[in-house]
Amino acid sequence: MPASSIEEINDANCKTYLVVAGDEAALVDPVRDRFDTYRLVLRERGLRLRLVLETHTHADHLMLNRDAKDLLGVSFVMHERSPIPLVDRHVQDGDALELGDVRIEVIHTPGHTPDSVCYRIGNTLLSGDTLMIRGSGRTDFPGGDAGAQYDAVTRRLFALPDDTVVLPGHDYKGDKSSTIGDERANNPRFLGRSREEYVTLMAELGLPFPAKTQQALQVNQSSFEAHEVGFPLVADVASLPALRAPDVAARLRSGAPPLLLDVREPEEFVGALGHIEGSLLVPLDALERRLPKLAGYADRDVVVVCRAGARSASAGAILRRAGFHRVFNLEGGMLEWIAADLPVAR
Ligand SMILES: [Fe+2]
Repeated sequence: MPASSIEEINDANCKTYLVVAGDEAALVDPVRDRFDTYRLVLRERGLRLRLVLETHTHADHLMLNRDAKDLLGVSFVMHERSPIPLVDRHVQDGDALELGDVRIEVIHTPGHTPDSVCYRIGNTLLSGDTLMIRGSGRTDFPGGDAGAQYDAVTRRLFALPDDTVVLPGHDYKGDKSSTIGDERANNPRFLGRSREEYVTLMAELGLPFPAKTQQALQVNQSSFEAHEVGFPLVADVASLPALRAPDVAARLRSGAPPLLLDVREPEEFVGALGHIEGSLLVPLDALERRLPKLAGYADRDVVVVCRAGARSASAGAILRRAGFHRVFNLEGGMLEWIAADLPVAR
């Protein structure tokens, strides 16, 4: 075994990479139902798992949950825009992580999701669902942005050296790797296309919405199991009206302020992002049980708040199903509240 290596270990369309540096390891985009296999592999090779790195919040498989994280005793790394409450280290564009003597560079490449990143390790790019072999990740899920993806790929990734090896998050044709030079010259999604043309192309792909997508997405975003929360369907979530942070602030100053319902975990409420003064904390997994106590608000304006606006969309759908009919989502959650320079309590 070389001192450092990167290999794909699922042998499936949905790819997980094992990064090894000496006796330390990182898993990139591990799939939850394969954790037992990963543990066997790690044990057999005498590797210590140090990091779980995600390229984005996935919609097509279940990610690390609380139990798996505790069992693995690992540091969970995602981009700052990740909605997931289990993340230990939020990274930003340009950050570098260390695994043994290997340096892992973070490139923020939003588009497939707001929290999409690529990890550059030496001459290799783990390109997630941003750049795929002769393709790119779909941009029609909530938070997707084809224009941002075009910019990320053409300005950031295609600026890397030609011989950079590209290892994508998926491949449906059985291809394993490509290079930046090859993709820049041959990727039909980008070749000869302007940003505007790319946005049109992506809007017209008309990909089917996979049956379990919303369920996987909501479970991943909240880190609770679907059966614990009783997740509502996608239509419920999508129809929740959203308010931008300055609009929420204006409503709070009005004569009839809304109830602010913060559905994050208690440690997030008092953590780095803090909370909005006067919010009521009801974590998403407790919401269903606490509904009777909230009954007095059924006819009042309720604004649901979380980290990035994803868990709150689930919470809003639960409230609406329970008969609350004036429910709004704080778009972009506390991240947007803070970006708008609004006051925070801790
Ligand atoms: Fe994805």
